[in-house]
Formats: sequence, structure tokens, C-alpha cells
Amino acid sequence: MALNLVMLGPPGAGKGTQAERFAREHGIPKVSTGDILRDAVHSGSELGQAVKAVMERGELVGDDLIIGIVRERLLRADAAAGFVLDGFPRTAAQATALDEITSARGPVICVEIQVPDEELVRRVRGRRVCDDCGANADAFEQKADVLSGLCQNTERCRDIGPKWVARSDDSETVVRERLKIYWRDTRPMIEYYSARPTFRVIDGLQSPEQVREALVGAVASALGMPAAELRTLVAQRLGGDDVAPSRARQKGEAQA
Ligand code: AP5
Repeated sequence: MALNLVMLGPPGAGKGTQAERFAREHGIPKVSTGDILRDAVHSGSELGQAVKAVMERGELVGDDLIIGIVRERLLRADAAAGFVLDGFPRTAAQATALDEITSARGPVICVEIQVPDEELVRRVRGRRVCDDCGANADAFEQKADVLSGLCQNTERCRDIGPKWVARSDDSETVVRERLKIYWRDTRPMIEYYSARPTFRVIDGLQSPEQVREALVGAVASALGMPAAELRTLVAQRLGGDDVAPSRARQKGEAQA
């Protein structure tokens, strides 16, 4: 059974936080278009140079470019058993492309996380990420006294300790621009999904742990099974093996 999950919602709703954990616990890759683009900017690649200014203004990068990146990523072997898409689709053209890309892959479950705008601005302005590898000081563990131990993804993080910084598009002005674009271009696209039997909405104002529970419940219900049955199926598929954490941006993904 493939687990094809699309996380929908505005900036700061918790898509990345939940996608990260769901992917890790279910043995499927998290595919975050924002992470892929940020890696490209970080590495200074041609792609990174092309998208840096657009991202810093809070605007969307071009559909053709982003669709190409996702198409290539979902074709890789590790996505055959499913994926968690975070940050894609965001426009009607991307949603249409995703339907085409996934047409032979079983049902695609779409979960929208809803959070009021003012809470989104508060969260995004408070977010800190590792300057070296982009890992989020995530909401499941966010306590100042443990932050230094949270990111161990690169040699620099392990040896010197992570340097927590604000994302370059997380200033209040840019966040408000991102929200404007979300309500103009992305929220109408979500209507495209809302009539489907595999569409679910969850309340993102709950604690991260409660949102996680709600997400697992939503996915199970979209698949027509109780959450316990989904857990059993995943445990059988993973064979009791722990899966590699997908928490940090994967170096190399950016070279897409
Ligand atoms: P992207 O990286 O996708 O940003 P986004 O969609 O704006 O989402 P965020 O990462 O800001 O928020 P999130 O919902 O993931 O929340 P998170 O879990 O981090 O895109 C960045 C840019 O790339 C775009 O602006 C665009 O330029 C470009 N781009 C990307 N994809 C594109 C596409 N498909 N097409 C065109 N352009 C594209 O949580 C946020 C904070 O809240 C964290 O600090 C977290 O710890 C905290 N938090 C999480 N859950 C909770 C909770 N339940 N309670 C309290 N705090 C919480």
C-alpha cells in the first residue's frame, strides 16, 4: 500500500514539522519544495541563483521549474512506496501536474492544516533554523535549553554546535506577502481538492503532538481504516527497522 500524502496549508501552519515526523515514522521520504529550493540557494547552484530573489520577496517560483523538480524527485526509487509532499502544489497548474504525475500511483491523500493568520505570523517570526543545514528547531522539542543539542546533522553542527538563525523570508513584511499570495493563489487551489473523498482538514491550533495524532487519524480515515490498522500495516512494512531520520535538508537534493 503506497502512502501518498500532500500537506496543504499556509506558511507557518506546521506542514514541514508534521511532514518531517510523518515521513520518518512511516518510512517514506518528505519532499519539501521549499527545502529543495533553499538547499539550491545555499549551494549557490544555477537553480539557487535563479530563485533566491524570488524567495526573499515571498513570491512563488515559476510553475514549470517547480513541476520539473517534483516530477524528477517522485520518480526516484525511495518514493515508490509513497511520499509526503510539503509545499507543493501551490497553484492550479501544479495541482493539475501532480494529478498527472501520480495518476498510476494509488490514491493521493490531501490534508489541509488550518491556522488563523495572526498565529501564523507569530509562529513564523519566532521560527529558527540551523544556519548550516537548515534543520528546524521544531515545535516538538522547542525549549531554549535543549536547542544546542537538537541539530547534529553536519560536522559543524556536531563540533561547534548549531547556529540558530531566522529564515531570510521570515520577516513580518515578507510573511505578510507570503500570506497574501497564499490566499490569492493557493487557497483557491485547495478547493480543487476539497470535493475528493481523500481530502481532510485538521485544526493546526492544537499542540504539535495533537496535530500529529489528528494527521495520522486523517490519513487512516482517508484510506478507510482505523488508525491502529494503519500503524500495524506500517510496522509490518518497516519490519521493525528504524528508518533514517529525514529531519535535515538532505544535501544533494538541491542539485535537482
Ligand atoms: P516553503 O518552505 O514551502 O514555506 P511555506 O509554505 O511558506 O511554509 P513554512 O515553511 O513557512 O511553514 P510550515 O507550514 O512548513 O510550518 P513549520 O512546520 O515550518 O516555501 C518557501 C518559499 O519557496 C516560497 O515562499 C516560494 O518562494 C518557494 N516555493 C516553495 N514551494 C513552491 C512551489 N510549490 N511553487 C512555487 N514556489 C515555491 O512551522 C512553522 C513554525 O511554527 C515553526 O517554528 C514550528 O516549530 C512552529 N509550529 C509548528 N507546528 C506548531 C504548533 N502546532 N503549535 C505551535 N507552533 C508550531
